[in-house]
Amino acid sequence: MLADAFARPIEYLRVSVTDKCNLRCIYCMPEHGLEWLSNDDILTYEEIARIVDAAASLGVRTIRLTGGEPLLRPHLELLVAMIARIPGIEDIALSTNGLLLEGHIEALAGAGLRRVNISLDTLRPERFEEIARRPGLDRVLRAINAAISLKLTPVKINCVVMRGRNDDEVEAFAQLSQRLPVAVRFIEAMPVLEYAHAQREEYVSADELFARLKRIGGLRPVEGPSGNGPARYFTFPGAAGTIGVITPLSHEYCSRCNRIRLTADGRLRLCLFGDYHADLRTPLRGGASRARLAEIIERSMLIKPERHHLRLGEPASRMRALSEIGG
Ligand code: 5AD
Ligand code: SF4
Repeated sequence: MLADAFARPIEYLRVSVTDKCNLRCIYCMPEHGLEWLSNDDILTYEEIARIVDAAASLGVRTIRLTGGEPLLRPHLELLVAMIARIPGIEDIALSTNGLLLEGHIEALAGAGLRRVNISLDTLRPERFEEIARRPGLDRVLRAINAAISLKLTPVKINCVVMRGRNDDEVEAFAQLSQRLPVAVRFIEAMPVLEYAHAQREEYVSADELFARLKRIGGLRPVEGPSGNGPARYFTFPGAAGTIGVITPLSHEYCSRCNRIRLTADGRLRLCLFGDYHADLRTPLRGGASRARLAEIIERSMLIKPERHHLRLGEPASRMRALSEIGG
């Protein structure tokens, strides 16, 4: 069983398949995008599968595909099928903004995808365009319904809460969790790149969110859906779904960390923040065996930090593919 230096079992690998995105959420990317990786930098599906295979040989059981927006990679279902065949992998999930999901969801489910997390910060179309800087709310809502119909459950909805932008929709999201069999998760906005400055003013703490949810009445804690996540869940009487909060800025979050990340360009990242990583692409392309890759992964556990040191309003070091928190 893989474990880090703080005896946290590591059984969850998040795999970023691309750094590109078809949205420009204000808390994630600048309007003009990032300096994108070139195609040669990005791992092929075969290369990703070899790393997953090595990780699975060490005890990794859950794979989550993320981005950027993972559905920008053509035929993602081929990767899902390759991962589904790897011995030891029990669960494959996808984090997506939902824009391209409806058209691909049957192929993905057929290939072995078990569940999806969909980002949704607002239920109002004009606001969607303010926050994501692109239109698309109707497509996201259709994707959520498609995921429910195909029973890719628990369907988790990630909502980054920002004061003055969408915090007046907390109650509307609570209603959504009553109406639909989904797990709504409010996520504290983290100080990333150019959003770091605004984050200080727009930060809504988990305590405040709970206080507001409690005002609706009948809120009680529940076990929550499975899925190895860092969220804590609650439900309302008679609700079809649940509601929860993810607080990446609190250190409680770190103490329960069970995950590592593979970047689109083949680095194993040991922490969401801070540049702790091990290069896997060079050995991979140099012909390293599965055993050798496993050895590098195992040894990288030594540099997995106990926690991140991010604080309110302090810009995180420049990093790619942050779409990793709520997933
Ligand atoms: N703060 C919190 N969550 C973020 N995400 C990306 N950037 C941030 C940030 N600054 C996460 C959210 C979003 C997903 C795509 O990435 O969970 O829903
Ligand atoms: Fe794209 Fe997700 Fe970042 Fe929004 S938060 S720009 S959907 S990667």
